[in-house]
Amino acid sequence: MCGIVGVTGSKRVLAILTSGMARLEYRGYDSAGIACTEIESGGHQGAASLLWRKRTCVGTNSVARLTAELGDKELGDGNCCQLAGIGHVRWATHGRPDIDNAHPHFDCNSEIAVVHNGIVENYESIKSQLVDEGHKFTSETDSEVIAHLLESFSSSTKEPIKALKALLDVLEGTFAIAVLFKHLPSDIYVVRRVSPLIVGLHNGIGLVASDIPAILGETRQVYSLSDNEIAIVRPDSISIVGEDGEVSDPIFRDIQWSLEEAEKGGFDDFMSKEIAEQPASVADTLRGRITEDGTILLDQENLSKDQLREIDKIFIVACGSSFHAGLVAKYAIEHWARVPVEVDISSEFRYRDPILNSRTLVVGVSQSGETIDTFQALKEARLQGAKVLVITNVVDSSMTRECDAVLYTRAGPELGVAATKTHVAQMAALYLLAIHIAQSKNVLYPEESLEIVNHLRQVPDLMAKTISLQSNIADLVHRLSNQTTGDAQPTGNRCRRFFYLGRNVGYPVALEGALKLKEISYLAAEGYPAGELKHGPIALIEPGVIVVAIATRNRLWSKMLANIEEVKARGATVVIVAGEGDEESIAKADEVILVPRVPHPLLAPMIDVIALQLFAYHFALVMGNDVDRPRNLAKTVTVE
Ligand code: M6R
Repeated sequence: MCGIVGVTGSKRVLAILTSGMARLEYRGYDSAGIACTEIESGGHQGAASLLWRKRTCVGTNSVARLTAELGDKELGDGNCCQLAGIGHVRWATHGRPDIDNAHPHFDCNSEIAVVHNGIVENYESIKSQLVDEGHKFTSETDSEVIAHLLESFSSSTKEPIKALKALLDVLEGTFAIAVLFKHLPSDIYVVRRVSPLIVGLHNGIGLVASDIPAILGETRQVYSLSDNEIAIVRPDSISIVGEDGEVSDPIFRDIQWSLEEAEKGGFDDFMSKEIAEQPASVADTLRGRITEDGTILLDQENLSKDQLREIDKIFIVACGSSFHAGLVAKYAIEHWARVPVEVDISSEFRYRDPILNSRTLVVGVSQSGETIDTFQALKEARLQGAKVLVITNVVDSSMTRECDAVLYTRAGPELGVAATKTHVAQMAALYLLAIHIAQSKNVLYPEESLEIVNHLRQVPDLMAKTISLQSNIADLVHRLSNQTTGDAQPTGNRCRRFFYLGRNVGYPVALEGALKLKEISYLAAEGYPAGELKHGPIALIEPGVIVVAIATRNRLWSKMLANIEEVKARGATVVIVAGEGDEESIAKADEVILVPRVPHPLLAPMIDVIALQLFAYHFALVMGNDVDRPRNLAKTVTVE
């Protein structure tokens, strides 16, 4: 998740680049940079072209700092000599946020500048080959290999299209790439696979962007590149080169969105956008970490099999949604890897004198990597000699500097305060860890772990299917909101009480579902292990209470159905989350949320939780709440 802008043919190249980048800061804000072509001063016939770049890395102020450093004169007066430029805002995935890792990247001779969104999965093997050939690298990124590959491919022909085609043959992974060649100073070359990229043309200005808001101020006519298409963007023309080599003109579409709508990608708010991005978050987190034969590769994360073989006890420490992801992992690790796992709330772990030693692995799970409770808990664990692994979404965050190993989730920036896509990405990372430990300890037969891995690979598609069922959940929420709740409670959602029940991996899902409802709908919701209800809380069940029961099939499913009978008998309205076609579960329900059946019961949380996010989201809308900025909450909690 980064942002790309490109412009050619305008006297306002720098101004268009920097304002476009400012509009993309919600995609990445670790660092920012631009590269531009110019004609040597004087601009006389035969004058040489120049290629230069400028980069900053000051976190959320990166674009503002870059803009200031470029200077008002160059930006404003329309007398600039830049012919074309490309810009990038970065959300670090490979390589910490610093100036060297900021884009654009250059080849060895500073004649090719590249900006890149996505992940080059095979960059390590490419890089070692290029280094052997004598290429000099200046960053830790996967992206820099693109500049050097283009240098290598174009050294003989100087033909960008041939070089880009060769690049497409070599690169694995996802990418949107924009390139400037010094010897073609008015052209921008772009190519994509999976990561989005658009081009536009208006009044003699050619434009490029990863996202519509970046260029909406300049044009409303855009063309979205298809996978493996190349575009040549010039001031007065755009040519598309298809996979088959055919050259065509783009067919533009008209964008009707306002700027605010465009930033949210056409969604009403960031939360619904981020819910929709969940299949990609999981796919990206898994990407490049599973081999063909199902082996999990986390050596790069400093989690080699040798290191893990020694571990005999695991603590997972986290807060909020990250804690719930940790609870799901307990079931998976204990079942697959047969290592005992305790899951602790960070603020409790730190002060409760846990017993740790060098064979203990403490896993800190934190979207932000900054939550003070988790950070301090991990510091304490390290002091006591445990090995510390951090699972986080933010490269180079504080926790990553106080640990032995880091496993990054790749969900991109999450703006909604309520965690959604980072939560499922955490689960994906933890499942990888669970299988990896099992493989390290030889606890699973190879065919068993291959089967699990194959099921895991199917999850993004099942998640997408769950999201596509959203309108049923919206209808259900409206029905429940209009329900008369009987004499026992006053009517109106605000006074209603919700219980979320689950067993086995359904239990952490119940906790997360209740947390989401509390956070954004401000409704009283409690998550509970369904078997524990009869030990007290069942006294609260009466007509008007809504019980959300996670009844997708796991090893305790039939017991779950019995618990559902108990609350039905006491008058609760029961909403059941059930797998499609599961008539036995459906028969017990007053209302049903159907989700796709998941091939492995331990993986169901990644699907079931989406249904509950949507349930909470639609309640919040009915209540008229701001889903992105719920009251009293901060995205990152850095106080104890
Ligand atoms: O950044 P972290 O994952 O460490 O944050 C932990 C919690 O503060 C966070 O999950 C919080 O509960 C969210 N608002 C949940 O939606």
